[in-house]
Amino acid sequence: MTKKSVLFVASEGLPFIKTGGLADVIGSLPKELARQGLDVRVVMPLYLKMAINNHNDFDYVSSYDVRAGDIQSMANVYSQVVDGVTFYFIEHRDFFERDELYGYDDDAMRFGFFQHATCRLLEALNFFPNVIHTHDWHTAAIPFLCRTFYSYREEFRAIKQVFTIHNLAFQGIFHEHYLWAALGMDHGYYRDGVARFHDDCISFMKLGVLYADKVTTVSETYAKEILTEEFGENMQHVLELRRHDLVGIVNGIDYDTWNSKTDQYLVKNYDLSTIADKKANKLALQAQFGLPQDENVILIGIVSRLTWQKGFYLMTEVLSHLLQAHVQFVILGNGESDIENAFHHFKSAYPEKFAFYRGYNEPLAHQIYAASDLFLMPSMFEPCGISQLISMHYGTLPLVRETGGLVDTVTPYNIENKSGTGFSFGGRDAYSMKQVYDLALQTYYDRPEDWQAMIQQAMERDFSWTASAEKYIWLYREISG
Ligand code: ADP
Ligand code: GLC
Repeated sequence: MTKKSVLFVASEGLPFIKTGGLADVIGSLPKELARQGLDVRVVMPLYLKMAINNHNDFDYVSSYDVRAGDIQSMANVYSQVVDGVTFYFIEHRDFFERDELYGYDDDAMRFGFFQHATCRLLEALNFFPNVIHTHDWHTAAIPFLCRTFYSYREEFRAIKQVFTIHNLAFQGIFHEHYLWAALGMDHGYYRDGVARFHDDCISFMKLGVLYADKVTTVSETYAKEILTEEFGENMQHVLELRRHDLVGIVNGIDYDTWNSKTDQYLVKNYDLSTIADKKANKLALQAQFGLPQDENVILIGIVSRLTWQKGFYLMTEVLSHLLQAHVQFVILGNGESDIENAFHHFKSAYPEKFAFYRGYNEPLAHQIYAASDLFLMPSMFEPCGISQLISMHYGTLPLVRETGGLVDTVTPYNIENKSGTGFSFGGRDAYSMKQVYDLALQTYYDRPEDWQAMIQQAMERDFSWTASAEKYIWLYREISG
């Protein structure tokens, strides 16, 4: 029997390039699916950093013309096999070899090109998978293109399509002119409402929602939330049309990368049986940031994009109160300047208690997950969240807002029976957060046996991909037999 074949298409993925949790998923779910017996391949753009760091390891695959709308370009394709998964990289120097991955005026053209180049790649390879699994707006038009632009070939029409929403807040909304310019599609798809979104605009994401056989998102709670006005980002009515094909499957984490027992970035490795060794990482991090070295003070970590989504306006509102307690904060991240400025301010006002590293830093992220006692993630919305999973797996209890995947993955502390894997609050206000923060500090200082019991529960939880990958395989089977 031939293996079921699935082609992932995504704008970022480990071990090559990462700006957020999407890259974690693309670097780990395909690997687990391959382990469970599927033929899994991944297509992504070849960015500047990869051209510099990885190009020598890539094998040349093919070159071909990509023509659609205003796109008349050549694509060069390279590949590399990692952990049983074949990655294809689409090279277009002008479009992708830039400092950043996203946020350019010509993003519609860049990702229009990428999606057409992906479809053309299937022709070039004569490889037509059973399922194409697309992720977020950068790849969301592919289900639509396979059933319109490329429908002249039976092979394209026969491919089943799964589209995963990792973050509905980013939809790829562009002027309707790009329906032709970037996708090569007739204006009629705007006029009849299929591609239309707001006045004069189209949404790539809407095409994925409408044309995929199944639409998934990265937690069960977020799958329900996005049908509401509060979380639907104006897409709720479109999603409602697909309600019966909308599925929430929670993310896992890569247990090879995230293993406190073998993690090469830690000063001292540990697991549940040697949990006391976790403290050595705390002392080292305190020294690294010039904080007083004290293994008893509660160390609160943050590793995050610094954006409204992540709830940092809530936090900065009460930060001067939070800092009155016996605490230390170590924060890693970058993003919106208001939040960065606030953190710079607190760093100079409380040098003994507050450390802030502005930027993206993989080794430091590992060290913070291992060194901290509490991990703060008060997100306003959170489709799944990878950070709270890593922190629990490292025995660092998360304090989260009850939204999206945070509800599905963090069990709040129950003082009656010492159960729980973290702390959570429901309100959208800073006061609710402060209340739970106080509870977390009390638990840490006054009920250390409860804290230890929670560490044990967190570290014993299964956050691997095994179960969720099985759910994806069921889904692929359901649509493609
Ligand atoms: P999102 O994808 O919304 O940013 P997730 O929690 O799903 O949030 O995933 C974030 C991922 O990016 C985690 O693996 C986290 O460790 C990592 N990360 C976020 N910010 C940084 C940073 N400044 N340096 C290193 N890793 C980071
Ligand atoms: C998005 C979401 C995050 C999720 C990640 C991976 O970036 O913001 O919650 O964990 O995608 O699915």
